[in-house]
Amino acid sequence: MKLFALAASALTLAGSAVAQEAARFGSVSVYPSTVKVGETFTVHYNSTTARHQPKYYDAYIQGTVQSNGFIQPQYLLQRTVFPTDGTKDVYFNTTVPDIGLGPGIVHSIWAFITYPVDDTPDAPLEYGGVSTGITVEGY
Ligand SMILES: *[C@@H]1O[C@H](CO)[C@@H](O)[C@H](O)[C@H]1NC(C)=O
Ligand SMILES: *[C@@H]1O[C@H](CO)[C@@H](O)[C@H](O)[C@H]1NC(C)=O
Repeated sequence: MKLFALAASALTLAGSAVAQEAARFGSVSVYPSTVKVGETFTVHYNSTTARHQPKYYDAYIQGTVQSNGFIQPQYLLQRTVFPTDGTKDVYFNTTVPDIGLGPGIVHSIWAFITYPVDDTPDAPLEYGGVSTGITVEGY
C-alpha cells in the first residue's frame, strides 16, 4: 500500500468559503470547550459532511503562541481505524498532554482523516483536516 501524504491546508481563516472547505473533511467538536490541565474532555468527530469515507482518523492538539504566531507541533491524542459499519460519529475521552503549556498560547484540536481518493480500497491515500478551538486553563 502506498501512502500519499498531501499537505493539509491550515484552516486558520474565518469565513464561509473556509467553512465549506473544512466541511469536506467532516467536523470536530470538544466538550467541554474549556478544560483545566488534567481534566477529561470529549472529542467528537462527525464524518457526515466528509466527501470521502475516512480510513483513519487521527486527533491532535496544537498550540499557537499569540504574541508571535508561532505554531507549535501537533501532539497525537488518539489514532482510530475508522469504522466500516456506517458509523459517522467517533467519540473519545482524553486529557491535555504535558506539552509545555503556558499563558498566551491558544490551542486547537485537529481531526485529520486519511481517505482513498476515489473511495476504492486500493486507491492512493490523501489526508485533510478540520479543527476547533479549546481553552486550556490552570497552568
Ligand atoms: C453530524 O453532522 C450532521 C451534519 O452536520 C448533523 O446533522 C448531525 O446531527 C451530527 N451528528 C451529531 C451526533 O452531532
Ligand atoms: C466520556 O466521559 C463521559 C463523562 O464521564 C462519559 O459519559 C462518556 O461515556 C465517555 N465517553 C467515552 C467515549 O468514553
